[in-house]
Amino acid sequence: ASDEALQVPHVPKSPRDRSLIAGAVERNDFLRLLGEGQADAMVQSFMPAWHGPGHTVLAEGTDGDAMYIVAEGELSVTQRGCRLRTLLPGDVFGELAILYNCKRTATVTALTQIRLWAIDRQTYRTIVTSQAKRRRAEI
Ligand code: CMP
Repeated sequence: ASDEALQVPHVPKSPRDRSLIAGAVERNDFLRLLGEGQADAMVQSFMPAWHGPGHTVLAEGTDGDAMYIVAEGELSVTQRGCRLRTLLPGDVFGELAILYNCKRTATVTALTQIRLWAIDRQTYRTIVTSQAKRRRAEI
């Protein structure tokens, strides 16, 4: 299957947002393994979301159906109440439940007004599977 045939959302973005997402994908240990076409499809597919301070974006132990990139603001990552990390613009989170089909390993809460980019599991799978199919076809 060619990348053009991928049935994934195409959300228009500013050059600045595209470079923030592309940079986050390149720096992530898992997402950097995607081919160029898949990384482009991923940049296209992220959807915007906004939340206020105190909003819990995802909760430890629950099912996960999306992964996120921070566009603006700060969030805290906590595990059993212990603060692990502060997330800043350009950081990826919520990828573990999507990549490993496990429950959310931590809770992520907005510390400020936040703007996020989100991609759902189905879209992520569509993009990654297209690469796997193409790689098999090349062997
Ligand atoms: P996920 O398990 O899907 O949801 C919770 C997210 O918190 C997880 O993906 C990671 O993105 C993030 N996370 C989990 N553990 C840590 C950690 N030790 N340090 C930083 N981030 C983490």
